[in-house]
Amino acid sequence: MPNKETFYITTPIYYPSDNLHIGHAYTTVAADTMARFKKQEGYDTFFLTGTDEHGQKIERKAQAKGVTPQAYVDEIVRGIKELWKLMDVEYDDFIRTSDERHVKAVQKIFRKLYEQGDIYKGSYEGWYCTPCESFFTEMQLKDGCCPDCGRPVEKTNEEAYFFKLGKYQQWMIDYIEEHPDFIQPVSRKNEMVNNFLKPGLQDLCVSRTSIKWGVPVDFDEKHTVYVWLDALTNYITALGYASADDSLYQKYWPADIHLIGKEIIRFHTIIWPIILHALNLPLPKQVFGHGWLVLDGMKMSKSLGNVVDPVVLCGRYGSDAIRYFLMREMPFGSDGQFSYEALLTRINADLANDLGNLVSRTVAMVEKYFDGVVPAHGEWNDTDRLLIALAEGTPSRVQKHMDELQFSVALQDIWQLIGECNRYIDQNMPWVLAKTEEGKERLKTVMYVLCECIRIVAILISPTMPRTPARIFEQLGVSDPALCGFETASRFGMLPAGGRVQKGEALFPRIDIKKELADIVPTPAAQPAPKADKAPDDGLISIDDFARVRLRAARVTAAEKVEGADKLLKLTLSLGPGEPERTVVSGIAKFYSPEEMVGKQVVVVANLRPAKLRGIRSEGMILCASDAHDKTLKLVTVEPGVEDGAEIR
Ligand code: ME8
Repeated sequence: MPNKETFYITTPIYYPSDNLHIGHAYTTVAADTMARFKKQEGYDTFFLTGTDEHGQKIERKAQAKGVTPQAYVDEIVRGIKELWKLMDVEYDDFIRTSDERHVKAVQKIFRKLYEQGDIYKGSYEGWYCTPCESFFTEMQLKDGCCPDCGRPVEKTNEEAYFFKLGKYQQWMIDYIEEHPDFIQPVSRKNEMVNNFLKPGLQDLCVSRTSIKWGVPVDFDEKHTVYVWLDALTNYITALGYASADDSLYQKYWPADIHLIGKEIIRFHTIIWPIILHALNLPLPKQVFGHGWLVLDGMKMSKSLGNVVDPVVLCGRYGSDAIRYFLMREMPFGSDGQFSYEALLTRINADLANDLGNLVSRTVAMVEKYFDGVVPAHGEWNDTDRLLIALAEGTPSRVQKHMDELQFSVALQDIWQLIGECNRYIDQNMPWVLAKTEEGKERLKTVMYVLCECIRIVAILISPTMPRTPARIFEQLGVSDPALCGFETASRFGMLPAGGRVQKGEALFPRIDIKKELADIVPTPAAQPAPKADKAPDDGLISIDDFARVRLRAARVTAAEKVEGADKLLKLTLSLGPGEPERTVVSGIAKFYSPEEMVGKQVVVVANLRPAKLRGIRSEGMILCASDAHDKTLKLVTVEPGVEDGAEIR
């Protein structure tokens, strides 16, 4: 197929961390899946990733190790590239902010903004969060700490350059309002406009004099360019913007999608577009802020020590299984719980049972009943026609959902076809058909339909699972590349009869989940011994007992009825921008409708051990007052003006 339009997709550039966790792999696998899908569709695709290497954080880590920052990051970047290789991430370019090509372009951009009056010199007095590499005013701090990550901040007072962000505030609001697809999902758009843009944008401090590891301002060398200004420009410097050869920039910019995690959406949908606008450049078409992979209710993050190593997972189960799990398990955009149990269950149910069995049963039957040769089909009957229609319609459904970045729904579309193929086998009972001559005639059609559906499935799973299709094609005896392209997936009947199938190893061997869990799940640290001198149980609790209960204000962002349970509502709660959303199942459905609940501020017991209610993991409990008289429940709430996430003591 001739190349159609271009498609440019990016991941954030990663902070060099000595072991990236499965949460990091999430963004990259999603971008890689999308890039592969667009390539498959025939787009001229460019997929960029890289590393964000400058700043105070790296400077200090290198110092602690006694090496130069460059040596420190070089070593880590090697490991990151190996991880992407292991996970079959096929980027077109890997930009490092320490690359000469990037440094030179950042200097030109900074100079241009200065010369046109968008950057000016002043002095900065305020607070700096090194882990987030972010500036905050006194007012913005939360309990004296970083409002984003909650860690301590440092007082900073130095000469600095500022970027006139405030000047573009109204333009930015108008742009976002006029381009409803620019920020996705839509809920993140509202958060940006209401929480950050409307309250007012302050000019942004864009240089530091106390940090040396960064891009020097070329006309005032004691200043180093602020890391976020440096980092964000990677999306254009990688394409050669402001260099002698900007042909890639001309070809691919503006980006079709910046794929990022939700915590950095502010940088990508306010600061970055304003920089681009000031440079008179077009804006990326879309910024998509996905949710977090959460472990035990908290964002997986190295500093919290709750990380899962993708190298270990790929080693045990293969990268295709891990990629499938990441893309299938949670709706893209929402937070999702990582658990080994969920991973292993998906591998067994979806990959070993549904897909694996379909392929192995079909190939085994072609071998047994037709000496391994794919038979020519006869007339279709109604059952065939139904399955064929489903198969022919699946590629366009997948296409629609991929274009909406609904990876999990696109995979559900494919698995619906797989499920129907398995049902088709059960309905047609090949083992019965094989017993008579007439039945055997019919069996030819059944086996052909199955082989052709499997060919289509193999094509459709390939962006998510790049390794498995080749193994399927080998078993099906398909070697002609003309039968493996996306455009042939909706043309049922292309598989020629007469090919020879070949039984191979199980695509995904079944896992003994109990045994595997005992082997892989880290055992909790030893519990402290109970105290010997226990207070008598007189029904009273100490202040320490009470202090163990974490009550917090939370906002209901979504609510729905729990199917089959008339008392229960499933609520999604936000505890402020720096934290993953959580799900709480509450027995208030008789007193509040889902519509009434959305937007309400409630009080949640935030450190309650999660429990499963009707198969839904509930992470906390919301407080209600119960009226003994009329047996109703009324929500306990807080005075207006309390921030979501505030501790209640
Ligand atoms: O933010 N679940 O880099 P980074 C899902 N250098 N995604 C996660 C995650 C989790 N538990 N933990 C991290 C930076 N990520 C900056 C970007 S771009 C100009 C500069 C995702 O290494 C995170 O959301 O901290 C982000 O999209 C990516 O990993 C890189 O994070």
